[in-house]
Formats: sequence, C-alpha cells, structure tokens
Amino acid sequence: MPNVKYGFDAPGIMRNLILFGVLIITISSIIFKFSGNLILNYINYLIILVGFIFFILGIAMLAYGLKGKYRTRDLMLSKINWTGKENVLDIGTGQGLLMNGAAKKLTTGKSIGIDIWSSKDLSGNSMSKTLTNAEIEGILDKVEIRNEDARNLSFADNSFDVVLSLLCIHNIETKAAQEKVCCEIARVLKPNGIALIGDYIPTTDYAKAFAKAGLKVKSSKPYFKTALALMWIVEVTK
Ligand SMILES: C[S@@+](CC[C@H](N)C(=O)[O-])C[C@H]1O[C@@H](n2cnc3c(N)ncnc32)[C@H](O)[C@@H]1O
Repeated sequence: MPNVKYGFDAPGIMRNLILFGVLIITISSIIFKFSGNLILNYINYLIILVGFIFFILGIAMLAYGLKGKYRTRDLMLSKINWTGKENVLDIGTGQGLLMNGAAKKLTTGKSIGIDIWSSKDLSGNSMSKTLTNAEIEGILDKVEIRNEDARNLSFADNSFDVVLSLLCIHNIETKAAQEKVCCEIARVLKPNGIALIGDYIPTTDYAKAFAKAGLKVKSSKPYFKTALALMWIVEVTK
C-alpha cells in the first residue's frame, strides 16, 4: 500500500493552538513560581487551565492529521454497500483523501473530486498535489478532479450514487450558504443514493437542511474515538 500523505487540516490554527498553549503555560508557571500572592496564584491556575485546553485541542488536530483522518475516511467508506459501479462525488476533496479512497472501491464507476484548493484549510493544498496522490495510489483512470465551488455544482440533477464530504462545509461562511451546499448535495444525489458528510462541528444544521431538501436522515452523531478529535458525521439517503 503506497504511503500517500493527505495534509494537515487548518494547519495555521493547529500550530497557533499548540504554540499559545505552551506559551501561556510557561509564562504562568514562571509568574506562579515567583509570586507569593494567593489571589494571583488562583488567577494563574485558571490561565494555566486555558493554556492546557489550547494545547490539547492543538494536539488533537495533530493526532487527527496523522491518524484520525484516515480512520474517519475508512469509517465513512465502510458505511456504503459498494457494487463498484457507483458515480461518486467528493466535495472539498483537498488532496483526494475520500475521492481516492472511494476510487479504490470502484470497477466501472467514477470518483469525482471538486475543490477550490484553499491553502489555509489544508497544508500543501493544490490541484497538482491531488493529481499526484491519485497517480501514486494507482487510480488515476478512476478519478476526475475539477476546480469548482461547492455552492454551485455544475452537475446535472440525480448524477451521483454517493456524495461524500469531510471537513469542508464549515469553511463556507454563512449558515445560508452552508444550507445551499446541502441543497446542492440533495439535488445531485440519485434516488436511493447515499450522502455522508463529516465535520468538526455538530452536523445537526446540515441534517435539518437535508431534511428540508427532502432527504431521509439516517443518523447524525459524533465519532470522536474514531477521529481522535472533534468529528460528527451525518448520513442521509434520497
Ligand atoms: C480541511 S480541508 C479537507 C480536505 C479533505 N476533505 C480532507 O479531509 O483531507 C477543506 C477543503 O475544503 C475546500 N473548500 C473550502 N471551501 C470550499 C468551497 N466553497 N467549495 C469547494 N471546496 C471548498 C478547501 O479548499 C479544502 O481543500
């Protein structure tokens, strides 16, 4: 199995959480050491706690990038009864984590990944890296990569048997725009098709938007143990 890397999500936020955490803990510990004042010591305890929370959140993002995202991909793909003939869409594919994973399940089917390749959302994010990953994975003939915005998909209604998306929709700024993405997913999904959407925020709002668009919500729940970080997945069918 080739050792392909799919990047670290929100690398700037991950780095800042770890650095701020370490900085706050270090400075507070120094003040704590030289202060004999009881009230100041209590305040310091609280500041150290905040620093510790920052640090743990940063480390969780690191653990997700190293292991959790691959476990989350495998979990999402395991929820589909593959025939090999599926047409698959991965929204916000990044470096192709889900697009390539799905392509490996296909015989005659096609796995399409769309993205706008924002570098702040994923380390080393680019269309050429995505192509390289597909090539290394040996599934270049089963994938198609397009520069496309999730809010306005170019695909016809009822095009896909499977729609996947991981850690993409929260990047879309307004709730209204996120709802629009859910409507687009509902539109391009075939009748009896399945959509699985993972995100680090609760997927309750996505589930409501899918239900409003006429899809059946099978589940919307957390998978922290699998992801080693914050992760909710909503599963819907048409
Ligand atoms: C955190 S990364 C996750 C990438 C990939 N799904 C993974 O799990 O490795 C989020 C991805 O969503 C993409 N993205 C953000 N806004 C988007 C939009 N409006 N349309 C399409 N992709 C978008 C970013 O460019 C980035 O590649």
